[in-house]
Amino acid sequence: MSTEPDRWTAVDDYFTGLLAPPDPALTAALQESEAAGLPAINVAPNQGKLLHLLAQLQGAHRILEIGTLGGYSTIWLARALPADGHLLTLEYSPEHAEVARANLARAGLDKITEVRTGPALDSLAALHAESPAPFDLVFIDADKVNNPHYVEWSLKLTRPGSLIVVDNVVRGGHVTDADSDDPAIRGTRAALELIASHPKLDGTAVQTVGTKGYDGFALARVLD
Ligand code: SAH
Ligand code: DHB
Ligand code: MG
Repeated sequence: MSTEPDRWTAVDDYFTGLLAPPDPALTAALQESEAAGLPAINVAPNQGKLLHLLAQLQGAHRILEIGTLGGYSTIWLARALPADGHLLTLEYSPEHAEVARANLARAGLDKITEVRTGPALDSLAALHAESPAPFDLVFIDADKVNNPHYVEWSLKLTRPGSLIVVDNVVRGGHVTDADSDDPAIRGTRAALELIASHPKLDGTAVQTVGTKGYDGFALARVLD
C-alpha cells in the first residue's frame, strides 16, 4: 500500500487557505516558537480550527489543555471562549511556557489564559485540590505515556457533557501494536481502552492524514 504525503499536504494547504487562514497572531506564534527552538509539533491549522469549532459547539466557558508548547493550539481554543471564559494550559518546560505566554499576549488572550509549568500530573493534582469549576473541554496533547492518567484526571475535572480530546492516537499506525514496548504507544492504547471501558465515557477515534503525516484524534464525551 502506498501513501501520498505530498497529496495530503496539498489538500491540507487547500483546506487551510480556505477555512483556517493564518492571521498575524497565529503566524507570529509559529515564527517565535521556531526562533526559540521549539519542535514544530503543534496541531496543523485546520486541526486548530477543528478544536476551535469543538469548543464553540460545547459552548465552552472553561478549557483545560495538557501540553502547551508555544501556545498555538491554545490560541485556537482560547479564541472560542467568551470574554469571561478561562483557559488553563499545563506545560512541563518553563522555556516553552515563556514562549507561549508571549504568544498568547500578542494574540490578546493573556487575560483569559493561564500557563502553569511543571509535570502535568503534579499540576493536575494541585488543580484538583483547588476544587475548580468543571472544565467544558479538555485537550490532551503532552507526554503520551501519561495519557491514561490524563484521561482519569480529566474525569475528575469535568462535568457530564464535557468533551475530552486526545491528540496523536494513531502515530503512523503503530497504535495497533498490542505488544509495543514504546511507552507512548502503550499509554495511548491504555487511554483508548479506558475510554472504551469507562462507564462515564463514550468515545471514538478517527484517523487523519495531512501536513502532520498519518495520525488521529480520540474524542470522548463525559456521561452522567
Ligand atoms: N498542544 C500544542 C503541542 C504540544 S507538544 C500545540 O498543538 O500547539 C507537547 C508539549 O507537552 C511539549 O511542549 C512538552 O514540553 C509538553 N510536555 C511533555 N511532557 C509533559 C509533562 N509531563 N507535563 C506537562 N507537559 C509536558
Ligand atoms: C509529537 C507530539 C505531538 O503532540 C504531535 O502532535 C506530534 C508529534 C512528538 O512528540 O513527536
Ligand atoms: Mg499533538
